[in-house]
Amino acid sequence: MSTYGYFDDNAREYVITRPDTPLPWLNYLGQDEFFGLCTQTAGGYSFWKDAKLRRITRYRYNNNPMDNDGRFLYVKQGRSVWNPGWKPTRARLDAFECRHGLGYSRITGRKDGIEVEQLMFVPPQENLEIWKVSVRNKSRRVQKLSLFSFVEFCSFEALNDMTNYQRTYSIGEVEIEDGAIYHKTEYRERRNHYALFACTRKVDGYDTSRDAFVGVHHGLHDPQAVLAGKCTNSRAYGWNPCGAHQINLTLKPGQEETFAFILAYVDQGDLPKFDAPFVMNKAKGREILKKYSDLAAVDAAFATVKARWAGLLSTYQASSVPNAHLSRMVNTWNQVQCMATFNLSRSASGYETGIGRGMGYRDSNQDILGFVHLLPDRARQRILDIASTQLSDGTCYHQYQPLTKKGNADIGGDFNDDPLWLVLSTCAYIRETGDTTILDAPCGYADKPGSTDSLLHHIETSIAYTLNNRGPHGLPLIGHADWNDCLNLNCFSKEPNESFQTSGDVEGSKAESVMIAGLFLYAARDLVGLYKSMGRDADAARVQGYYDDMLKTVEEQAWDGAWYTRAFDAAGNPVGSKVCEEGKVFIESQAWCVLGGAGRDNGRAKKALQAVEKYLYRRDLGCALQYPPYSTYHLELGEVSSYPPGYKENAGVFSHNNTWIHIGWTMQGDGERALEYYLSICPSAKKDHDVYRSEPYVYAQMTASQFSPTPGEAKNSWLTGTGAWSFVVASQSILGVQPDFAGLRIDPCVPKKWKGFTVTRKFRGVTYTIEVKNLRGRSKGVKSLLVDGVRIEGNLIPLPTDGRTAVRVEATLGA
Ligand code: BGC
Ligand code: NOJ
Repeated sequence: MSTYGYFDDNAREYVITRPDTPLPWLNYLGQDEFFGLCTQTAGGYSFWKDAKLRRITRYRYNNNPMDNDGRFLYVKQGRSVWNPGWKPTRARLDAFECRHGLGYSRITGRKDGIEVEQLMFVPPQENLEIWKVSVRNKSRRVQKLSLFSFVEFCSFEALNDMTNYQRTYSIGEVEIEDGAIYHKTEYRERRNHYALFACTRKVDGYDTSRDAFVGVHHGLHDPQAVLAGKCTNSRAYGWNPCGAHQINLTLKPGQEETFAFILAYVDQGDLPKFDAPFVMNKAKGREILKKYSDLAAVDAAFATVKARWAGLLSTYQASSVPNAHLSRMVNTWNQVQCMATFNLSRSASGYETGIGRGMGYRDSNQDILGFVHLLPDRARQRILDIASTQLSDGTCYHQYQPLTKKGNADIGGDFNDDPLWLVLSTCAYIRETGDTTILDAPCGYADKPGSTDSLLHHIETSIAYTLNNRGPHGLPLIGHADWNDCLNLNCFSKEPNESFQTSGDVEGSKAESVMIAGLFLYAARDLVGLYKSMGRDADAARVQGYYDDMLKTVEEQAWDGAWYTRAFDAAGNPVGSKVCEEGKVFIESQAWCVLGGAGRDNGRAKKALQAVEKYLYRRDLGCALQYPPYSTYHLELGEVSSYPPGYKENAGVFSHNNTWIHIGWTMQGDGERALEYYLSICPSAKKDHDVYRSEPYVYAQMTASQFSPTPGEAKNSWLTGTGAWSFVVASQSILGVQPDFAGLRIDPCVPKKWKGFTVTRKFRGVTYTIEVKNLRGRSKGVKSLLVDGVRIEGNLIPLPTDGRTAVRVEATLGA
């Protein structure tokens, strides 16, 4: 138990025991189309599909105190005013607990004998969230109190809502029916949707104008109506529409009242928009309220949230894992994070405002690697959506908007790693499902309206793009950047008001990326495996030729003596080389060359990993991105040198790339290092939360490194590729259960002292119970494989051909 909370592993919850965590600790509600961000103090906002274009509630950024908008309940008890979630009043509570669970958060606060519990969740397939609220009199006397709800509406387009007051202060409209608040800003003209905020219980008052409820010179910490103990039944017309309800309660000792608030996004579909001039058709809204006015329906909806997660997680569960951190991450929290990154890419978190980046091309492809086992059909659709934002010359829109699925023209393309990630996501999907029909699915190219080129066409286009765009060393051209968005070798930016990543391309530059070369090796090897599994030997041989050729180039051009060079800049000078004064060793080229199979036969792979250990690794922090950090701005390198040393891409511990090194160690068969490195960035293993500050249950994108003044402080939690890749590391590389084209492969790499563990894996309709035994103290190498008692050569479990749906496997490590 730390100062701030603990894992309740059986309940699959993280329990926060005091509200003033070092940073807001976030959870996500929803996993289909309606999403909410929810912190331990009920902060956050909700949106439908797209945090920019369909924002339902508001959030004020860059605020202090942080995280001051949300799903608030106020209690007015005599003269005292408080929130069960502590904020915004921050009135001292007698007890506080927030349980962040899978797709729900349950906040319970108690003061002066009254306990309020607020359970927030989004029912599967519904476009709404429910707050189930219980108010309990824990005292020995009768208590009278008023409970107020509060949300602030957003006028749906979040950027406009935040910046264009000359218009937005004059468009707000609502309707109120029996205390149910219909937020219908812009509904009279082009919108066919509205938001609804209502209580399943009769209310004693409401407000829909923020000025009336909060007061122009008050704040959310002292809203006027709550102080007065009375809502004003205001009707917003312009300005800032909000939703607030008042419920007066008289509770006997021990008495409890339970009801629910519903916050819904309603699409009118084909229904007539109006019942009468200015009167919207509320049929759908009324239907929703009717459904959930029955608390049994609320409870049933919550039960489906829980059941759905239990079902999803049952696809991969490990037991008797000797390390508790790895166990809870791989079984629960890492998979939860994979769901969030899959759904939201890098759009909406405590660090992504939901108005900037939408879905990232490379990001979303990688997110699939950790998600595909959960819901393969959704992964399939996502792959096709992503591919459709590729252009016919092979380049890709770097980001796209989830609502429209259209590429974002501001950032454009030419991030030359982008095309290759599609190969990895597609192969991961086929390994999981065996469904090669995806390769024939038409998805077309963004610049060829109506085109129906197949996914396989995209994949070959991606491979060809890398092959055809190479520089003087024969290595792939980097374009605007590769995986490291901040290594901008072609954009020499001198102006503070322009993008490092896209401004001023250097004419005719031939800057090259070794990281992309390694990624190409990986992708080509994947594709060879796929073609072979389909019996397309000629294609396999062709792509193998590309692989061999690139491998030769890497070994001839990119070995720096003790590690792989990172890149060659626009002038042809090496980046990440012993000849550099700063930035001598970079992590990404070690990682991807090793992952792509370079250095395997000549000992360089091990040397590259050892260089990482020597220059970048710290057991308590993880691996910094490069060494030494850049102390000054380098025009020829770009944004990477813009951050202060030890932060972000300038030698921060960028968790995402650490995971590739973990895989590298398992390729070396070093189970001790694989686990030790894994734990070095594992949030559950972080001991001092005042130093680490971010959520202990999900990965953060970066931790300040030894080169900064605040080593160990994490930032940018939740939406990071670390989610997917860590799940790959733990589930496939360490515990060693690997989906392959022809079946499940068992190839663990564990510390020698681990005696064994068991994994239950649902795979292509069969439930495998895989017991791994390690009685001889090995790290790697399956010596014997028994499948339902029958000995199999090698480590691949063939797919059952006799209709068995449950298979027992015993894998013994040994020489
Ligand atoms: C960040 C990167 C990020 C990029 C996105 C940079 O400022 O450091 O991590 O990928 O912005 O545009
Ligand atoms: C975060 C971005 O989302 C990702 O695309 C990029 O690879 C890393 N930053 C590293 O720059």
